[in-house]
Amino acid sequence: MSEPKFIEDREKLVKLAPVADAPIRHHVFVCNGKSCAAVGSADVKKAFEEQLEKQNLRYGKASKGRNPEGEILLTDCGSVGFCSIGTAVLVYPENVWYAQVRESDVSEIIEKHLLKGEIVERLALIGGNRDK
Ligand code: FES
Repeated sequence: MSEPKFIEDREKLVKLAPVADAPIRHHVFVCNGKSCAAVGSADVKKAFEEQLEKQNLRYGKASKGRNPEGEILLTDCGSVGFCSIGTAVLVYPENVWYAQVRESDVSEIIEKHLLKGEIVERLALIGGNRDK
């Protein structure tokens, strides 16, 4: 097995990941683990992709139809570990977990939460520990 190669040049590292210096307001994770995939996570992710890109909100390379100045970073991820709530969608920095998200819910999450900062309470898992 070959030795892992690490980049020592910090400037080079920064150039390889311009997202670290981007004006990101929200990072949205869509779980695509096995259980979430079984309840339609691919459709949820696709709806986020299409709607964010149509509104020019999605951060990313222009060559991929995204906006280098976009304020929303969209990432799919492996199981977040609570597989009965799928499709799980997590929004940071607020640390809001949305459960049982369907394709038809995506526009509401974008319009209310990502654009207006209002949590979509009917989908959010919010217990009583936030104010403690
Ligand atoms: S597969 Fe999505 S939480 Fe486990």
